Amino acid sequence: MLTFLCSLPILWQIGLLISLLLGGFKAYLWYTLGVCTSTKKMSGKTVIITGANTGIGKETAIDLAKRGARVILACRDPKKAAIAKDDIIQETGNKNVVVRHLDLASLKSVRKFAAEILKSEPRLDILINNAGCATIEKKLTEDGLEYQMQSNHFGHFLLTNLLLGLIIKTGTARIINVSSEAHRMPNRLNLDDLTFDRDPADSKILRIYGVTKLCNILFSKELARKLEPCGKNITVNSLHPGVVHTEFGRFLPYEVFKKIMTAISPLFSKSAKEGAQTTIYLAVADEVANVSGKYFCDCKIAKTSKLAKDAGLAKKLWEVSETLVKLKPEERHY
Ligand SMILES: NC(=O)c1ccc[n+]([C@@H]2O[C@H](COP(=O)([O-])OP(=O)(O)OC[C@H]3O[C@@H](n4cnc5c(N)ncnc54)[C@H](OP(=O)(O)O)[C@@H]3O)[C@@H](O)[C@H]2O)c1
Repeated sequence: MLTFLCSLPILWQIGLLISLLLGGFKAYLWYTLGVCTSTKKMSGKTVIITGANTGIGKETAIDLAKRGARVILACRDPKKAAIAKDDIIQETGNKNVVVRHLDLASLKSVRKFAAEILKSEPRLDILINNAGCATIEKKLTEDGLEYQMQSNHFGHFLLTNLLLGLIIKTGTARIINVSSEAHRMPNRLNLDDLTFDRDPADSKILRIYGVTKLCNILFSKELARKLEPCGKNITVNSLHPGVVHTEFGRFLPYEVFKKIMTAISPLFSKSAKEGAQTTIYLAVADEVANVSGKYFCDCKIAKTSKLAKDAGLAKKLWEVSETLVKLKPEERHY
């Protein structure tokens, strides 16, 4: 066998080696894949999912709609959201799927979205902060915040705070923040410079994405701590969905690179449906009904980086975030 392999042209040998490595990784993914096996029905429950028009968010919406929930798709692009809504209704037969406009990179949009929800919805059982982006260049939003930080952290921070009164009023509820293993990338978090202007090492674009995902976990932990007086009825958890084949690659630089990655990524990634499993598990499974402040991967509690465990840092991030999103004292529900 070895003699036969060695007799092949070198390009064939390389191709074979790469295929074996990718195949092995895919087999590992399949072996470790966490699947939500709960058959729980969600009739009478209301769910908000940010970034639900595609990828992990859309698959989560499909699953929860199948279970009978009222699903609110919180999306920034009305056309994409309308198409996703039609797809979800067609696939699940659940007509209780609605679209509300939300651009997390605008504090004004977050406030408008939250005001509409507070006016129209009598309850909110599950809030899934799923939307996320990674940009190839650093830029500021209309609010003067760094774009990725606002889309991935500050927008969800403000949204959750504005909806917290309704969530607490609902009585039993779950808040789920989609983070990433990329939270391990930063080895420090400078809360005095969240626009990443001072240190060139901090401003590296991938590192900023890592910081936003670290903030998702710190935010979850601090919110879980703040909600402890509510008992175990309102839980807050974060998760890593895995390496998932979605539209996330659209943020990659260079068209050719993007096309190659899009073509080969199914070979070493989970599908969007597989990537949605941990989110769905946290939304419906009975065994996590009283689990809060944890980080999950493949439907199991997972370890975070040392920085993500720092309770003092989580508290300070909360204070800085409150100031930067201009949260008013009367909007605090803890
Ligand atoms: N894919 C992975 O391998 C992976 C790994 C770890 C973590 N994650 C996390 O998983 C989550 C979902 O990602 P995905 O892979 O499903 O990516 P995706 O296919 O690119 O979907 C991202 C969603 O977020 C929305 N979004 C981005 N910025 C927004 C903003 N400012 N306001 C409102 N919506 C916004 C997008 O809306 P548009 O369609 O309008 O752009 C889209 O609906 C993200 O938080 C990501 O960080 C993904």
